[in-house]
Amino acid sequence: MSTINHLFENNRKWAEKIKAEQPSFFAELSRQQNPEYLWIGCSDSRVPANELLGMAPGEVFVHRNIANQVIHTDLNCLSVIHFAVEILKVKHIIICGHYGCGGIGAALDGKQHGLIDHWLRHIKDIYRFHQEKLDAVTNMQEKSNLLCELNVIEQVAHICDASMIQKAWQDGQELSVHGLVYKLHDGVLKDLKVSVSGLERTY
Ligand code: CO
Repeated sequence: MSTINHLFENNRKWAEKIKAEQPSFFAELSRQQNPEYLWIGCSDSRVPANELLGMAPGEVFVHRNIANQVIHTDLNCLSVIHFAVEILKVKHIIICGHYGCGGIGAALDGKQHGLIDHWLRHIKDIYRFHQEKLDAVTNMQEKSNLLCELNVIEQVAHICDASMIQKAWQDGQELSVHGLVYKLHDGVLKDLKVSVSGLERTY
């Protein structure tokens, strides 16, 4: 049987390194978390929230799924948003897509993929909303990149429409929603400049 013993070894070294740098780190963090950011990103192993933001444990609350979607009936994602906004009082929600997303690619390739096709149906809906614009792009990579961006913009709108976000803004809570895309080839985030900070949308 193959084992994961090397992971325990990695973990022990990681914990020791942090304790050597900051002896009270885990003791302090174990008492409470106080993150200012909620990250909603893709499950893709190449897009790890904490690492690419340069953030330590405790600094970012994270939800990830295939193709970084916020579906109106997804209780998992909605519960994360609810907890982050009403209990943790995060100040920023970041939706982050990434170019080269396998989920976006699978939604575009016209093939059957089994169960996941139901999840990707929402991406295909976004294609339909912007069909004219997307059909005009013939290069498949450019088409995929554009759909990655349109998906992020759509998910920002979904978050803004969620009841707990509307309530937070009605109550005067300080909260902004941002849409970003991560570039796998250079590790840099691109701001899609669709941030929303209240009930009036700017786009
Ligand atoms: Co992806």
